[in-house]
Amino acid sequence: MDTDPRRDASRSKPGMRQDGSLVEQLRQFWDADSATYDRDAVHHPTAPLERSAWRGALESLLPPAPARVLDVGAGTGFLSLMLAELGYRVTAVDLSPGMLGVLDSKAEKADLEIDTVQADAASVPPGPFDAIVSRHLLWTLLEPLPALRAWHNASPQGRLVLLETLWWDSGTLLGSLRPLALQGLHRLRRTRPAHHASYSPELRAALPLGHAVRPESLIQLVTDAGWTSPRLYKLAAVDWAASRSLAWPERTVGVPPRFALVAGAR
Ligand SMILES: C[S@@+](CC[C@H](N)C(=O)[O-])C[C@H]1O[C@@H](n2cnc3c(N)ncnc32)[C@H](O)[C@@H]1O
Repeated sequence: MDTDPRRDASRSKPGMRQDGSLVEQLRQFWDADSATYDRDAVHHPTAPLERSAWRGALESLLPPAPARVLDVGAGTGFLSLMLAELGYRVTAVDLSPGMLGVLDSKAEKADLEIDTVQADAASVPPGPFDAIVSRHLLWTLLEPLPALRAWHNASPQGRLVLLETLWWDSGTLLGSLRPLALQGLHRLRRTRPAHHASYSPELRAALPLGHAVRPESLIQLVTDAGWTSPRLYKLAAVDWAASRSLAWPERTVGVPPRFALVAGAR
C-alpha cells in the first residue's frame, strides 16, 4: 500500500473538515476498548525492567522535569502517568472519555496530578508547552498533518517527541516474518486479542497512516508541519527489556522495533 507522506499531506489540508461520522466511530471504538486496553503488555507494560527502560528513554528524550508536557492521544495514560511520576507537569488529551476515565482513576490511585482534556488531536489546549509527546496515535488520525501543526502552535519553542513501533518491517526478513510468527503463537496459546474489535474497512481506508507509521514518512510529515531538525532514535533499551520480559517461545521471536522521532528545540 501507498505510504508516501506527501500524498498523505495532500489529504490533510488545513481547514478540510473531518467526516463527523468517522470521528464518532473512532470515539466509540476507543470508549469500548478502554475497559480492556491495559490487558495488553505493549499498551500497559508492567514488567519492572521494561518500565525502567521507558523511564530512561523518556528522561533522555525530553527536557528536564518539571517541564510542561502535553500527551496527545494519551489513552489510559501510559506516558502521562510515567511522566507525572518523573516530576513533569502533564496535560493529557484524548478523544475518548472512556480512555480518559481510566487515566483519571489510575492517576487518582497513584496520587498523581494530571490535567485531562477531552478533545480532538487537532484542537489541543493552547499551552505553551515545553514538549508534546504522543505514542501510537498518528496511525489512527484522519488528518495527521493539521494535528502536528496544532501541536507546533501549542509548543512553538518546544520539542516534539513521537514514540512509535514498526509493527511490520518489510526491510528485513525477521521484520516481515515476526508478525506472522506472533500471530501463529497467539492463536496456539489462545492469547486474548489486543483490542475488543477491529476498525471497519471504511474507517481503515480513511486513515492516511493506517497501515504503517514509518520513520521515513514521519520525518517528512513533521517537517511539513513546521517542526525543525528531526532526530531519529531507536529505543533499543526498551526493546531489549521488553524481549527479556516475554515468556518463551515469544522471546525467541522478539518484539517489533520501537523508535522515537524528536523534533524542534533541544
Ligand atoms: C492506540 S491508543 C494509544 C494510547 C496511548 N498513547 C498509549 O500509548 O497507550 C490511541 C489513542 O488515541 C485516541 N485517539 C484516537 N483518535 C484521536 C483523535 N482524533 N484525537 C485525540 N485522540 C484520539 C484514542 O482514543 C486512543 O486513546
